[in-house]
Amino acid sequence: MSQKNKLQSIKGFYDILPEATPLWFQLEDTARKVLSQYGYNNIRMPLVEPVELFVRSVGEHTDIVEKEMYAWEDKLNGDKLVLRPEGTAGCVRAVVEQNLTYNGPQRLWYIGPMFRHENVQKGRQRQFHQVGCEAFAFDGPDVDAEQIVLLARLWHELGITDVELQINSIGDADERATYRQMLITYFEQHADWLDEDAKRRLHTNPLRILDSKNPRMQDLCEAAPRLMDCLGEASKVHFENLCQLLTGAGVAYVINHRLVRGLDYYNRTVFEWVTTKLGAQGTIAGGGRYDTLVEKLGGKPTPACGFAIGLERVFLLMQEYGVTAKSSPDIYLVNVGEQAEAKAFSVAEALRSDGLSVVLHAGGGSFKSQMKKADRSGARYAAILGDDEVTAGEVSLKPLLAAGEQQRCGLSEVVNRIKD
Ligand code: HAM
Repeated sequence: MSQKNKLQSIKGFYDILPEATPLWFQLEDTARKVLSQYGYNNIRMPLVEPVELFVRSVGEHTDIVEKEMYAWEDKLNGDKLVLRPEGTAGCVRAVVEQNLTYNGPQRLWYIGPMFRHENVQKGRQRQFHQVGCEAFAFDGPDVDAEQIVLLARLWHELGITDVELQINSIGDADERATYRQMLITYFEQHADWLDEDAKRRLHTNPLRILDSKNPRMQDLCEAAPRLMDCLGEASKVHFENLCQLLTGAGVAYVINHRLVRGLDYYNRTVFEWVTTKLGAQGTIAGGGRYDTLVEKLGGKPTPACGFAIGLERVFLLMQEYGVTAKSSPDIYLVNVGEQAEAKAFSVAEALRSDGLSVVLHAGGGSFKSQMKKADRSGARYAAILGDDEVTAGEVSLKPLLAAGEQQRCGLSEVVNRIKD
């Protein structure tokens, strides 16, 4: 087939190849383990949701809704659909639709692909994967703290150090409305310094101007009024208690007054974990409280709090820290000779019934070529089945990853012989 006819994946959409999956498994398994240690239960939502869900939750004037959604109209029935750009909205929809908080609070988590039509660069893809976590019907800062501490534990277990925790409080809606007005007035007074993006956002989403990475606007944003100074008593106490809980748990944090997050549903606590080791896309997880979203999406008023981890970024970071993982089957079953070839399939099955992972050599070939493949397979042992072994009802075991003598043993003894 000519090069021209070869199909390629879409820009920003990637294959995860077998050589990478062992490290992915390590990342996902560790996340699963830690989440269950904190009592979070897995939920699985659809990848496709109605567009309206994200307009009403993430917000009409956010980057995601304005320009990053893979949205289309279903030709068959005219429904306006979208590949989910994030998981919180769908999770809230499911909680409301299935009345999941009927019997009390819920701690939920999910894993899977998300889709955003962004500019592609290191750590920024159009299909990427998140582990997300959402707690419903808890209003105290203890759940905010629990989720942050859970993440600190996860980084530790993954072998990642030096990630900075940034936190802020963006208050409740009325506090933010007061602040919004102050901010508009402030930026209007300095209109000459605003770039195009900031001018566009001034009356739609002025808080996001604070997130600007434009060097020309840094001094202006630093000197802007602070939301923290507009907080009412309840929001202030919530934030102070969160800080105390984190300090008590030994989790260091930095208060970043300009941290507002790019999604509209947040109130009070917002946080991000940031590394300097990945270049421009250094936020490996982000989240916060969203106490009004459940009601906005048709449920009863239910406070909530959550976060999502960008798995590709964490994967890259694990590699930066030299964390490696390999898939290593217990046994590569070499079979040479007519009787051995005929018997190999059932021998492999018997070993698997004993709980071992066995790669059965298929396709014949000399002893030497089969042993080469055994070496390349990453298996811990080659189990050699020749006609002699078949007659004796045994196999010869040869260690491949460590030094050691080849030994013969009965099939039922293999599992004990290769225990490490
Ligand atoms: P987010 O900040 O939009 O929050 O995304 C969370 C994380 O997903 C980011 O910190 C980043 O690591 C990763 N991420 C986002 N976009 C990309 C991309 N294009 N390529 C690679 N990684 C990416 C949310 O999604 C919220 N739903 C989090 C949340 C849950 N808040 C409350 N509950």
